[in-house]
Amino acid sequence: MKDSLKVTIAGGGSTYTPGIVKSMLAQQKLFPLAELVLYDIDQQKNDDMYVIINYMLEQEGRSEIKLTQTLDPKEAFTNCDFVFSQIRVGSFAMREKDEKIPLKHGCVGQETCGMGGFAYGLRTIGPMLELIGFIQKYAPSAWILNYTNPESIVSECVRRVYPHIRMICACDMTISIEETICDNFGYDRSNWTPTYYGLNHFGWYRSIYDNARGCDVMPEIIQKIKEKGMQVADFNAGDTTWQEAWDNLRKQLEFFPDALPNNYLEYYLFPDDKVSHADPNYTRANMIMDGRLKHTQEMAYKIRHHDKGEILTFNFGEHGNYIVDMAVSILHNLRKRFIVLVANNGAIPNFRPDAVVEVPAYISAVGVEPVALREPIPNFHKGMMEGQNAAEQLLVDGYFEKSYMKVLQAFTMNLTTPSANRAKAVLDDMIVANKEYWPQLS
Ligand code: G6P
Ligand code: MN
Repeated sequence: MKDSLKVTIAGGGSTYTPGIVKSMLAQQKLFPLAELVLYDIDQQKNDDMYVIINYMLEQEGRSEIKLTQTLDPKEAFTNCDFVFSQIRVGSFAMREKDEKIPLKHGCVGQETCGMGGFAYGLRTIGPMLELIGFIQKYAPSAWILNYTNPESIVSECVRRVYPHIRMICACDMTISIEETICDNFGYDRSNWTPTYYGLNHFGWYRSIYDNARGCDVMPEIIQKIKEKGMQVADFNAGDTTWQEAWDNLRKQLEFFPDALPNNYLEYYLFPDDKVSHADPNYTRANMIMDGRLKHTQEMAYKIRHHDKGEILTFNFGEHGNYIVDMAVSILHNLRKRFIVLVANNGAIPNFRPDAVVEVPAYISAVGVEPVALREPIPNFHKGMMEGQNAAEQLLVDGYFEKSYMKVLQAFTMNLTTPSANRAKAVLDDMIVANKEYWPQLS
């Protein structure tokens, strides 16, 4: 095993960077970070983050770690061991449009779900493939651990173009659900072996085996959520968007108590509620820009102006730990279990083999070994997934073929979309809004 690692964070200027760095520092014994590169295309954001991380290293007495920031892919990736990728193409300004344009037409406006998520997908495919091309050129043996959204679309296009690369696409939503459950009801998820299936931001638990109890605790968790609901966990304290998500998770269970769902299904099952509760002039992107992003800029400002007092105040969930735990499992060949995105190939036996699905997998030095579910999934879940996956595949086809019709079919099939009329209206507005980012469709 290497005893000094070079890690590059692609999208280094992201507000999620400090959490990832903090997790790497905490795991120093197992993850000997020697060099950290922040790579971004946004000089200002990358500068701010450089100032913050540099200060964090000083505070933690870890200034021996070489920290650099760059806009140059060659410098960023040469000799790199791990890339953590978390780019946001078009930044928050475009996230705002992904959310507001569908809402203007009475449809769900969300960064990864619905037509907003598809617009974001079409924006992200090109830059993501370009990024992977750079990494393949300068660090062909590096592992890429990817959080870049929308993960289903990103995974699908990468699967098609680079089927054999060392890349793992993962999402922290399942562990956030688990943490919130533990926080509310006093479980310890380090005892858990969850079995889960679906697409990204679109899935269900089949069981949650609790090692300390020797049984599946999912049925009692469902019962508890139905009875009491859930409050946001400490790391999301006061966040009304997440509170609404947990309230709707309870509603999902009142309707369909047979499996614990991913909260993101609220957008597909209750699009009418989501639209009527949204403020079309002030969406999640505005909350983030006025909250997390501003806070990050303020911290950088304070450090630059030698402010005394406590400067680094963050709310971390398990986001950083999850991706660093995966890297550690690769590095030490631990074969630990995570929930990740893989090509199905029979993992879900009664679902199309060529779909990217989210299932448990063992992660080790030889890569990802998905867990096969053995039992077929129920028709309700299967039907929803088939529709959504066909829409995702059509979107990626539409990107590569530059086909307006296929993208329109994808928008129409998205379960949040009430009609082809609405799909077309949103798509036509999205084409204008994304003219710098999308291929020209005809
Ligand atoms: C979860 C999801 C991510 C998503 C994030 C949005 O962590 O798994 O994919 O990007 O929530 O959070 P935000 O606070 O930016 O709305
Ligand atoms: Mn996610």
